Order: sequence, then C-alpha cells, then structure tokens
Amino acid sequence: MKCKTCGQKAVVNMRQHKLALCKEHYLEWIPEQTARFIKKYWMFGPDEKILAAVSGGKDSLSLWDILHRLGYQVDGLYIGLGIDEGIGYSQESQRLTKKFADERGLKLHIVDIQKEYGADIPALEDKSKRGQDKPCSVCGLVKRHEMNRIAHNLGYDVLATGHNLDDEAAVLFGNTLSWSRELLPRQKPVLPAHDGLAKKVKPLCRFYEKEMTAYAMLRGIEYIYEECPYSIGSTSIYYKELLNRLENERPGAKLSFYLKFLDAREKGLFAEQVESSTAPMFNCSKCGQPTKYDGECSFCKLIGIPSDEPSLLA
Ligand code: AMP
Ligand code: FES
Ligand code: ZN
Ligand code: ZN
Repeated sequence: MKCKTCGQKAVVNMRQHKLALCKEHYLEWIPEQTARFIKKYWMFGPDEKILAAVSGGKDSLSLWDILHRLGYQVDGLYIGLGIDEGIGYSQESQRLTKKFADERGLKLHIVDIQKEYGADIPALEDKSKRGQDKPCSVCGLVKRHEMNRIAHNLGYDVLATGHNLDDEAAVLFGNTLSWSRELLPRQKPVLPAHDGLAKKVKPLCRFYEKEMTAYAMLRGIEYIYEECPYSIGSTSIYYKELLNRLENERPGAKLSFYLKFLDAREKGLFAEQVESSTAPMFNCSKCGQPTKYDGECSFCKLIGIPSDEPSLLA
C-alpha cells in the first residue's frame, strides 16, 4: 500500500476513507482535518482561550497536541479522581499528563477531588450506591461539574474534550435505542455557552478511535493504555463492540451513522425538542452552576450526602 500524497510506503490504511498515508503525511492529515472540523462546526476562533480536559489517554493528549500545533491558546485541565486500586490508574494518568505538559512547556491545571471535597470517586460511589448509581455516572457528574467550574472561574471561553467518533457513535446508539427525546437533541459537536457555562466542543468527534491511537503512537505521545477499571463491562463498551462488528462488515458505517444524525438535526429533526430544552434553568443554591432543580444541583447533593444517608441523587 502506497501513501496517496507522496507514493512512499503507507503506514496507515483507512478503508472507511479509501485513504492510505505514510507517517509524515498522516501526522499532517490529522491536524488539517481537525482544523477543518473546527471551522465547519464553528467551534472557536484564534483569539479564544481554550481549556482542554485531559485524562492522560490517547484522545485528549492528542487533542492537546493538535490544538497547540495549530497555534491555539490552549491550557490543560486534569481532574484527579482517586481511582487507584490495582494499577494506580489515576496516579499514572496524572503522571503522564504532567510529563506531556512539562515536555512542551504547556500550562496544566490539576484539580484533586479528594483535596477539594474530602472524597474521591470510590468514596462518592460508595455513598451513592444506595441510589443504584454506577461509578461512571457519579464520575461523569463530578467531571462535568469540575470542568465547568474551572473553565468559568479561570475565564476560559471554550472547554474542549477528546471524545472521538467511537464515543459519539456509542452514545448516539444508546440514545437511539431508547429514542431519548431529552438526550438526542443535545448531542452535538458544539454546545454553546449558556447560563455562565463555557462553550463545549469536541474537535475529534469525526475521527475513529483507531485513527487517534495511530496518531498518538506515530507522534510518540506517551499515554495510559489501560481503560479506567470501572469501565470494564460497561454498556458503552458493549455498544462500541457492536458498532465495530458492523464497521468490519461495512467500512464507514459508524461515520455515516453519526454524520447522518448531525445532518438530520441540521435539517430540523429536533427543532421542537431544542426549543423546549432551552427552557430557563435554575442556579444551584450552593455552587451557582445551572441546574434543572430549584435548590442544590446533583453534584452538591452528592458531595453533601453524609455516608449513612440514602442517596439524594435525582
Ligand atoms: P471519558 O468520559 O472518560 O470517555 O472521557 C471523555 C473526555 O473527557 C476525555 O477525552 C477528556 O477530554 C475528558 N476527561 C476524562 N477524564 C478526565 C480527567 N480525569 N481529567 C480531565 N479530563 C478528563
Ligand atoms: Fe470515571 Fe472511570 S473514569 S468511572
Ligand atoms: Zn506520504
Ligand atoms: Zn451545585
């Protein structure tokens, strides 16, 4: 297989795009495509201050690398979740994120949940167990809250996450199985700023997971290979496997599933729901972040639960 650009030996063959590239041209192609998606979806301009949420994984470290190479003003945020049983997942991902930032002279903010709130994810998960919450939903709630808090407090215009196509297609698949009128309209590459929250963007949403793995490896980025131990056996991994089986039989099916959804929403498929989802929100009486509830938001309820009380998570 030869590189489409220079004719040298290709190292990456993307059947879904009918495109093979050598290392040099692949490392150029990914940032060029990212720049194209940033423009196409109106993600941000050159003067905006970006906060990239980095987990130490291949996607978010590659995202930080790409945005920096494209010349954006982009700092990192790492949230220490305290998931350290066994392989020391959080410690190792923090070490690799810090190393990445130090080697490139980039600014990294580190927030430790234990230090901030006196409880890490395993402890918060224990507290909320009575409410049948899975660790990932507790963790998702904490990450969302902290990303919003730091972006807002430190005056960033945009919060960027490393979600890739496999992540987005799996979420879309789950929301489609339940035809969620609440969640389907909200799944977008860009969520505009609202009620004091920064704009949220997913610049890698059109790249396959294996494309990001290839980018991180060819670029020589050192990242954590292990998945979060809590994600093993999760529904999202199951959906990803199902979609990979489909993709193997029909290259491009995953991308087409996602892009046709974006196209349908562009053409007004969810116009009615979008209007109702812009209904006014409340501001949390404790932390001030927007919430559906009149009183404390779900995060503040979770943090405030005494350990012997039943879960108050809605
Ligand atoms: P996940 O929810 O683990 O699939 O991660 C999705 C995205 O959230 C990643 O690509 C990162 O941008 C961000 N993220 C996940 N974990 C962390 C973390 N511990 N600190 C900062 N950002 C994170
Ligand atoms: Fe949060 Fe796994 S990273 S539960
Ligand atoms: Zn080439
Ligand atoms: Zn709150």
